[in-house]
Amino acid sequence: MDETKQYKIILVGDTSVGKTSILHRLVFNKFSEEYRSTVGADFLSKTIYQNNIITQLQLWDTAGQEKFWCLTEVFWRTADAVILVYDISCEKSFQNLEFWYKQFKSKSVNEDGTEKSLPILVLGNKSDCQTRAVKQEDVEQWCKEKNIKLHFEVSAKFSNQIKESVTKLTEYITEGE
Ligand code: GTP
Ligand code: MG
Repeated sequence: MDETKQYKIILVGDTSVGKTSILHRLVFNKFSEEYRSTVGADFLSKTIYQNNIITQLQLWDTAGQEKFWCLTEVFWRTADAVILVYDISCEKSFQNLEFWYKQFKSKSVNEDGTEKSLPILVLGNKSDCQTRAVKQEDVEQWCKEKNIKLHFEVSAKFSNQIKESVTKLTEYITEGE
């Protein structure tokens, strides 16, 4: 029988970078131009089939808006991996990755207080935008400093690299076990 694995993955990043849109593209293959901010956190499931392994991903879509942060912190603690999202057309959203990274690091600790070393995927969304404000090499450098191996530019709008990047993360989690 095929093996089934289950992982909990949390998405964080500034408001409006497209976390919900990425998940809706991944799970429902749909996209909406309309912006509806996430309140608190939402949860979606996605099953990935790969090399005779069935992987069930529990994807936690958090709210970027500050007023909801206290509601989402609890989810960070039990995550198996994190997806940090910025918007390639918004420089501030890349600068704030440092904040999201630190938040995540401070929350993902073992019971004895030591830091967990969890897989991280960095996604630069809205790669379809003509008005680029974040250089790919700057993000690569930032990832290198943090020893983050996975970085993709994606577009939820045009379904570019979404499934590929999440499949890579799944592979990476599985390999690390
Ligand atoms: P919060 O829930 O407030 O944290 O925001 P979010 O990160 O979930 O952003 P959301 O997915 O709601 O998207 C915000 C806006 O960006 C919406 O108007 C989307 O249509 C738009 N958007 C999302 N992804 C893309 C993309 O790949 N390209 C373009 N051009 N627009 C996008
Ligand atoms: Mg959202």
